[in-house]
Amino acid sequence: MASASPEIPAHVAIIMDGNGRWAQKRLRPRVLGHRAGRDAVERCVEACAEAGISVLTLFAFSTENWQRPKDEVNILMDLMSRALREYVPKLVENQVRLQVLGDREQLSPGLRNEIATAESKTASCGRMDLILALNYSGRWAMLEAARTAQREGVLLDSEAALQACLPEPRLPPVDLLIRTSGEMRISNFLLWELAYAELYFTDTLWPDFNAQHLDAALAAYAKRDRRFGGLPNKG
Ligand code: FPP
Repeated sequence: MASASPEIPAHVAIIMDGNGRWAQKRLRPRVLGHRAGRDAVERCVEACAEAGISVLTLFAFSTENWQRPKDEVNILMDLMSRALREYVPKLVENQVRLQVLGDREQLSPGLRNEIATAESKTASCGRMDLILALNYSGRWAMLEAARTAQREGVLLDSEAALQACLPEPRLPPVDLLIRTSGEMRISNFLLWELAYAELYFTDTLWPDFNAQHLDAALAAYAKRDRRFGGLPNKG
């Protein structure tokens, strides 16, 4: 799917950061930040679909997030499981196709089941693709590509050959990466797909992120001069 206008990024990826600090500021447990973060996910998915974005990838849980306290991991997994179940009718209504990207082996059978159901119920939705990166890291994806290539006897001698071996080979390059909470890191997100992404960092904590914040990111993106290693286009 191509986006309606070159000024609108076709693929937006978001590192949703700051749930814990949002809760801390309110002297509340971190879990409340994650719950508020879940509401922000709903708002953001709808705003992105409205804006005409074709693909939205959200970093929901990294392969490194298992290092968090067991209670917090369990709460996050439960939250994700419930969100998938409860949010499917809204996704269908908004014609958003959901796909999960990441290593599912370590996920509970219950969560794997919710993922499979959500993916199948939204499979024919065509307005926007929502990719949930769950138990994902960019290095994991590259290792998977190497393993696939070895298993299938593929020679990784071109970008196209490597791309074809990635866990989600159809994922287009990221046009705009947004990270909330003031941190300025890539944190092992879509390393291959981010090659020429425009980066946008905001101090807003993820649970506060709304359609106005998205508009501000899109406005900043529209002013960027994307060169892809070539010469300046504007001004
Ligand atoms: C980062 O905040 C956020 C996460 C590690 C998890 C993201 C999860 C959600 C937004 C909730 C639900 C998601 C879905 C898809 C329904 P942090 O905990 O690292 O915050 P901190 O840096 O302030 O501690």
